[in-house]
Amino acid sequence: MQFKNVLVTGAGGLLGQHVVRELDGRCAVEGFDLKAGEAKIDWHVGNLTDAESVAKAVKGKDAIVQIAAIPNIWSGTGELTMQVNVVGLYNLLSAAEEAGVKRVVICSSDSVVGYTVGEGAMLPPQYLPVDLDHPLNATDPYGLSKVMGEEMGRSFALRGKLEIIVMRPVFVAYPEMHDEIRVRSESPATYKGPMAGGPSSAGGGPCWHHIDPRDAARAFRMGLEMTYRGFDQFFLSANVTLSPEPTLERLQKVVGHLPEIRDPALYENKPFAPLYDLSHTREVLGFDAEYDARAVSLLQDAG
Ligand SMILES: NC(=O)c1ccc[n+]([C@@H]2O[C@H](COP(=O)([O-])OP(=O)(O)OC[C@H]3O[C@@H](n4cnc5c(N)ncnc54)[C@H](O)[C@@H]3O)[C@@H](O)[C@H]2O)c1
Repeated sequence: MQFKNVLVTGAGGLLGQHVVRELDGRCAVEGFDLKAGEAKIDWHVGNLTDAESVAKAVKGKDAIVQIAAIPNIWSGTGELTMQVNVVGLYNLLSAAEEAGVKRVVICSSDSVVGYTVGEGAMLPPQYLPVDLDHPLNATDPYGLSKVMGEEMGRSFALRGKLEIIVMRPVFVAYPEMHDEIRVRSESPATYKGPMAGGPSSAGGGPCWHHIDPRDAARAFRMGLEMTYRGFDQFFLSANVTLSPEPTLERLQKVVGHLPEIRDPALYENKPFAPLYDLSHTREVLGFDAEYDARAVSLLQDAG
């Protein structure tokens, strides 16, 4: 690992715990969160919105994995989401720049594309697969906060001191979410989550994208290890969705028509391929998901 001292924010949360485990033994890891988590690491208890506690935590670090956030539209008001995900991120990036941190890997979301949750306008993709040039059409406060976070990261990278790597994971299929995923698969029409004790609804948008947390954590680690090539963004997803229908069939059913398909072979060869173009992630980050959770939802193997 090129970085020796790494701060993981949100280290006590669902994804943060997986990232801390993934980094264990590769570098010295400290956590930043609202309260100390279970991992046996040094903890900085603080709030992203408190610039002073953020500044203390980033001191002496050469890289940060920035995961702490209001993680979906159900977890906080629009105002709180903006305060934490936008102002809090600004505090972190400013402090990181000031402290001489070299790289920040920022956790964004596929919500930036704007086709994940019913609240808001949820505009379907303009073409497939959705790549990094696709317009960002977020209309809910959470998606908007992530768009602003990505743009903020780009702005800091342009200043020339911080390297910024943006990750856009789709819905993370934590073990804690498996019951939700199963219940949704059994009765998609009546599913109104969270119904099965999960911390939030089975997500992934209309096509039920997902990524296993072990894969997501590995991708974040690779974001620290990759040779930097300028500000960059990566979609993170399993190679198949959890949808009962193949992707194009599903989209046709939900939207009523299909957009321009720029890579028809992708969906011919892999009918359950995600809406997102993973080739940049594969080619530049070198990441390819190993796991998928179709078996959890009692769905057939998508090949
Ligand atoms: N869960 C998903 O499906 C999913 C999908 C895409 C992106 N993401 C992103 O992944 C990241 C982690 O989400 P998660 O699923 O682990 O959720 P989580 O709620 O388990 O973790 C978020 C962590 O951030 C901490 N946090 C929240 N507000 C804070 C603040 N003001 N200051 C300091 N810490 C604060 C929480 O205490 C928590 O430990 C978030 O950035 C989220 O937007 C999640």
